[in-house]
Amino acid sequence: MGGGRKMIVGGNWKCNLDKEKAAALVAQLNGMEVGDVEVVVAPVFVHIPMVQSTLKKEVAVAAQNCSFTGMGAYTGDISADHLVDMEIPWVILGHSERRTHFKEDDEMLAKKLEYTLSKGLKVIFCIGEMKEDREKGTTMDVCKKQLEQVVKMLDPEKVVIAYEPVWAIGTGLVATPEQAQETQKAIREYIAEAASPEVASKIRIQYGGSVSAKNCNELAILPDVDGFLVGGASLKPEFSDVVKSCQPTVGAEKL
Ligand code: PGA
Repeated sequence: MGGGRKMIVGGNWKCNLDKEKAAALVAQLNGMEVGDVEVVVAPVFVHIPMVQSTLKKEVAVAAQNCSFTGMGAYTGDISADHLVDMEIPWVILGHSERRTHFKEDDEMLAKKLEYTLSKGLKVIFCIGEMKEDREKGTTMDVCKKQLEQVVKMLDPEKVVIAYEPVWAIGTGLVATPEQAQETQKAIREYIAEAASPEVASKIRIQYGGSVSAKNCNELAILPDVDGFLVGGASLKPEFSDVVKSCQPTVGAEKL
């Protein structure tokens, strides 16, 4: 593994599954070998207590979002304080669907990250460019802008970056190994410059966007890919293949 970083795979269930299907997915995960990979799954809020009480302990649970504030008069929101109270250790912040459909901007996301970290939670912080940005050659400008306000908060023990090109999310158009490696290396270089070389070498950077059993092996061996954030395939039995690709004994001699 690059820099001795432990591989981490997240399953982002998004706004999917009824309670029976979520329970069936938990049963499937309970039969999966976790090995030396950190595995985190993110069900919808209302399913979290059920998932948490039935899922084996080797798999952690994440919320898909939380508020930028503590508890209070914020109808419809859920605070990091609630996650702490419910013993939910992880939260995903800044997913492109939050940025696009719910207009969460960099400033708001910096507030969310600051607040959640102050409560001791662990965070998967998502960034990534749109198709037009890649075509214009401005991918790194976009990623830097998305990181700028949070880069000083990147504690490698608490934060994982998920690089998810928006054009690859849910489209079946996965980034090529060259695109993923080049961008994730550049993200790490930016973190070295803007935070510190130590943070850059320790922080884990996942790749996300149409990861599947078919493409995970060639991505898992890349030096700057420290695991995956998986959407569609995390709802299917192939999720275990994605986790397997990240086992040090399988994928694993990093290039
Ligand atoms: P996908 O989603 O794997 O379905 O492309 C990834 C994500 O949105 O995190």
